[in-house]
Amino acid sequence: TRLLVLHGPNLNMLGVREPGLYGSSSLEAINTRLEAVAHAAGVTLECRQSNAEHDLVDAIQQAPAHGVDGIIINPAAFTHTSVALRDALLAVGLPFIEVHLSNIHAREAFRQHSYLSDIATGVIAGLGPMGYELALTALLETIERN
Ligand code: DQA
Repeated sequence: TRLLVLHGPNLNMLGVREPGLYGSSSLEAINTRLEAVAHAAGVTLECRQSNAEHDLVDAIQQAPAHGVDGIIINPAAFTHTSVALRDALLAVGLPFIEVHLSNIHAREAFRQHSYLSDIATGVIAGLGPMGYELALTALLETIERN
């Protein structure tokens, strides 16, 4: 099984950026931990971060050709703006889980709408870095069931 983990804009600044909201873990620490969990489960993981919408669209488009079985995505601010990410995910039709470190439903009104949630296999918000690990477990379960 091969999974793609996509991190959207500004998530490269985790640990430094608004730690009260997003925690003190760096993105590298989150990815390292996730890779250990994946390795233990016999899963191959590819983690990518980009501040550019087109890079994320390209990564989603290329996923099937790379043998990816499912996607874990924290679209960050693009959650609330991007029809393009939605369309890319619809185009490839891979199961995906949307993850947010913070509880977007407890924040500003503009963060409470997601262009992805209604087409996601599931959504995890507000659990910090643990959300990615829960997503990995859930996505594997979904893939193995199908
Ligand atoms: C976020 C929530 C988004 O609203 C915000 O733009 C982010 C991070 C989260 O993980 O909580 O950059 O996706």
